[in-house]
Amino acid sequence: RETGPLTIAIDGPSGSGKSSVSKAVAAELGVGYLDTGAMYRALTWWCLDQGVDLTDEGAVVAAAEVLPLELSTDPQDQRVVVGGTDVTAEIRTTAISSEVSKVATNTGVRPILQQAQRDRMAAIARETGGVVAEGRDITTVVAPDALVRLLLTASEEARLRRRSAEVHGSADEEAIAATRDQVLRRDRDDSAVSQFTVAADGVVTVDTSDLDFDESVEAVLAVVASLAGHA
Ligand code: DC
Repeated sequence: RETGPLTIAIDGPSGSGKSSVSKAVAAELGVGYLDTGAMYRALTWWCLDQGVDLTDEGAVVAAAEVLPLELSTDPQDQRVVVGGTDVTAEIRTTAISSEVSKVATNTGVRPILQQAQRDRMAAIARETGGVVAEGRDITTVVAPDALVRLLLTASEEARLRRRSAEVHGSADEEAIAATRDQVLRRDRDDSAVSQFTVAADGVVTVDTSDLDFDESVEAVLAVVASLAGHA
């Protein structure tokens, strides 16, 4: 293949396996990783920490402009630090998950984080020869010219099963029911700002409904190999 950087953009809804698969693919290819959802989560955490009202759009935009964020690029050691505080675990809590859509649907915030994401992708690609960036609008807005663009999808049932196992450590009826409302509401909120359930032109869809984790990673690597000539 050409010797340009191996830039890989991966979008998809929660529970599609996007994050774990993206990290494994980056590790396998030896390139850096960018979790753009972590940036929306980090901004949400910081606003709450600073007492910024999430419904005050201008105040959240002002916070986005000066967000003191450090993100590790190693797919096997993800650290998120905001203003010197390690928030790696805290940004995954329900307290943040249930508020993050307010920040992600703020139309003044998006272009700021999208530009920061482009800059980070370029820096990671320079450093490691490539990058796997994942989110909701990477294939369409952040990096429409990425060498490889993928949409990871999964049936609603498969997504709920995975989320439930992740959040509650089990995927029995009760745990799935507890997860359903949250997952479906977030999908609805998120889809107001980016279309990530249908592949844009030139974006390859990988449906992981019937694939386990290893099979999903293999499927993505196969697409990378065919599009980028990368073994
Ligand atoms: O992927 P995640 O659950 O960590 O994403 C957190 C939130 O940020 C979720 O509400 C979707 C939103 N998001 C977005 O709007 N655009 C992105 N590129 C990534 C995430």
